[in-house]
Amino acid sequence: MLSRMRKQGLLWIAELVLLTLLFTTPQLGCRGKAPPTGGDEAGAEDGAASDVTSSGASTETNVNTGEGPSVAAGETGQSLYARHCAACHGENGDGQGIAAAYLYPKPRDFRMGRFRLVSTVNRTPSRGDLLSVLRRGMPGSSMPPWYHLPDRELNLLVDEVQRLHQQGVRDQYVRVLVEEEELSQEEIQEADVQEEIRDYVQQRTAPGETTHRHWRS
Ligand code: HEC
Repeated sequence: MLSRMRKQGLLWIAELVLLTLLFTTPQLGCRGKAPPTGGDEAGAEDGAASDVTSSGASTETNVNTGEGPSVAAGETGQSLYARHCAACHGENGDGQGIAAAYLYPKPRDFRMGRFRLVSTVNRTPSRGDLLSVLRRGMPGSSMPPWYHLPDRELNLLVDEVQRLHQQGVRDQYVRVLVEEEELSQEEIQEADVQEEIRDYVQQRTAPGETTHRHWRS
């Protein structure tokens, strides 16, 4: 008699524990329960459908309003580059960004200026080439596509890639002048030497004539 009461007591306690567990994990409890409590099938479907639509819509609104301001106005090529590209291509465009060690193929070194997807005879990419590669990315590598950026920002990024290329060629040439021609820093600053450097950089970094298109821009 007593043992039977004890058994019942134990069952009751077990039930209580189960119920407590159910109610103290409200997220699991509610989600799990929601569809069955919808009642008849039509009602349940309606409920589910409107749930999905409303939550989907609100998520999208959130995402949009969240991203809106960050596609910021007042950006420069340098700030855009620092934000989107430097982690791979390096702050100065040497291809040695913090992520570069983990990537293969390696991010392009803009300072050396060996570009692959070019339509020109001298292998220096035209603006169109650079815009295409930015919009499309380079499938098969970690180079992502940037078509979601507004044209204005893409153009600023193209300017920045070209500026980094010019800076790289300039530094290379100055090093040759210093190390091989043994010019002093003062001599480097002289007007005619500066002009020579400018001409060299211009000649080396200006896109040549177009051969054929590797792709439509
Ligand atoms: C996650 C790393 C990563 C990021 C971020 C990245 N790139 Fe790249 N990029 C690469 C890699 C890797 C390559 C070389 C791919 C190859 O050789 O196949 C490359 C190649 C390029 C090229 C060379 C195209 C050619 O014709 O050779 C350009 C130009 C370029 N990236 C510009 C940019 C710009 C501008 C940004 C920022 C808006 C950017 N990349 C962001 C990884 C990245």
